[in-house]
Order: sequence, then structure tokens, then C-alpha cells
Amino acid sequence: MQTQHFLTLNDLSSEQLKKLIDRAIELKQQHKAGQMYQPFQGKVLGMVFEKSSTRTRVSFEAGMSQLGGSSIFLSPRDTQLGRGEPIEDSARVLSRMVDTIMIRTFEHAKIMRFAEYSGVPVINALTDEYHPCQLLADIQTYVEHRGAISGKKVAWIGDGNNMCNSYVNAARQFDFQLSVACPEGYEPLAQLVELNSDRVTIVRNPEEAAADADLVATDVWASMGQEEEQKQRMAAFKDYQVSPKLMEAAHSDALFMHCLPAHRGEEVSEDMLDHGSSVVWDEAENRLHAQKALLEMLLLRERK
Ligand code: CP
Ligand code: NVA
Repeated sequence: MQTQHFLTLNDLSSEQLKKLIDRAIELKQQHKAGQMYQPFQGKVLGMVFEKSSTRTRVSFEAGMSQLGGSSIFLSPRDTQLGRGEPIEDSARVLSRMVDTIMIRTFEHAKIMRFAEYSGVPVINALTDEYHPCQLLADIQTYVEHRGAISGKKVAWIGDGNNMCNSYVNAARQFDFQLSVACPEGYEPLAQLVELNSDRVTIVRNPEEAAADADLVATDVWASMGQEEEQKQRMAAFKDYQVSPKLMEAAHSDALFMHCLPAHRGEEVSEDMLDHGSSVVWDEAENRLHAQKALLEMLLLRERK
């Protein structure tokens, strides 16, 4: 059987993704009811972080541990990965020792190369181009609060970054319309937009994107690795802030999401995370439950 990776949302079928979301909701309920479920005894997750993280690291480590397995945190600072050992060699070695590997890195091509040489499932924990694990949590959160997302309108305000590209994939896989409001030059991947042109529109005006939206989402103006562009980006995105005022353009029961960490006063107003529409804390928590469902799907596949 071919190794099943999760590098983008397109690595699973739409049916598998819907099942995964239902399972995440179920695992969350079981966990809250105090039920133990430990199918992963003796299983190990390798976690490679080439960028910082709070949510991703803690949710994967806690999730693995709750499922009865364990995890190993690997940073380039103190592994041979940081000293230039080829990706192909690292992938072959690590995958002989652990049962699955998650990677947070820069170029998406790097994780693709790693997966090519890995004998165990590789999970994308964020690259410059995609952040699919976050989308699992976002969709779970929407479903929990409002039911199915299919046929709804989602507004993305701000940078056409890794999160936005993953929203484009989600629009196809979960069957919703996505309106992206971004400044010129900061669009999501052109090829991806073209492939999904029946579901994605790009506009310049945030109010236009937010109009009648069921979900409004945003992210930082400068992602990890773009620190030197901060000043230029602050200027380019100054009219792209999500605030309670912008939410007035959306449906009255629209939700607001942000993958976090957030910069208050930049992409969100000071009061946005505490606004009645905001579900950002549920969204953060759901990283845990959605990734447990993902790990279960990837690792226990043969038993299903
Ligand atoms: N949203 C998210 O991935 O957060 P971290 O960078 O803290 O992992
Ligand atoms: N776009 C952000 C997401 C952080 C979770 C980044 O890549 O830094």
C-alpha cells in the first residue's frame, strides 16, 4: 500500500475530509467526557520544526500523548538537519525509526522531497505555501458552530499567503465560495486560483469580499520568513484590517476566524478577537482534535 501523506488538503478526497471532520468532533466529545482512547501505544511522531510554533507543537504533542503514543521534537539547531544533511537522507533515516513525521518548513518543495523519500506518512505542519492542518481545525470549528460549510460564502481578507492558498483548496474540497480581498501583488498562487476559478474570486475591496459572507478569516500581514518585508507590507495592507465594522457587511450570524498568532492593530482591530462573531479560541483548540483525527486516519488506515 502506498504511503498516505498529508501535504495539502488535496491529498485526501472530499469524502475522507468530511469523515475526518466528523471524527474530530467525535474525538473531542469523547475527550471532554474523560474517555480514554489509546490506539497508538508504541507509536512515535517525529516533529521537525524549522520555524517557531506554539499551537502546532503543543497540539501534536498533546494529541499523540492522548492517543497513547509519543513524539520527538527535532529542531535544526540541534540535529544534523541544520548542518546540511540532505533531505533525502534525513527522510530515509527518520522514517525507519518513527511511525509518522510532521514538518514545518519554508519551501513547499522541501516537504514534497522529504515525503518522496519517507516510508511513513508525512504531515505538513506549515510551509511557505500551505497550512492544511489549520484548515481542518477551521472547518471543524465552522461545522460545530453553524453546520455544513458547503454552499456558504467565505471571505479572506489580507495576504494571499499559505493560509489563503489552503482556503482555496478548502473551497473545492468542502464546496464553498471564497472571496479574497488583497492588495495587488499579494494574491494567492495564480495557478491554484485558475484551477479553482469556479469557486474563487479576487477583489481589492475588503467590504466587497465580506458582503454577505458566512465566515470572515484573516492572518498576519507578514508571515514567518518575511520579517524584512514588514515595513513595506504594513503600508500595502493598511486598508485590510478586520474589525467589528467590517463584520457588519457580512451575514448577521457570520463567524470570524484567525489561525493565530494575531497582531492587534494590524490585520485585526484591538477588539476583534473578543467580538461576538469571533471563534478563534475554539479554532485554536480544534487543532488538537482535528489532528488526532488526521493521525488516526493516516496511521490506522489499514484497520479501517
Ligand atoms: N496557527 C498556528 O499554526 O500556530 P503556531 O504557529 O503557534 O503553531
Ligand atoms: N501565515 C502565517 C501563519 C502562522 C501560523 C505564517 O506563515 O507565519
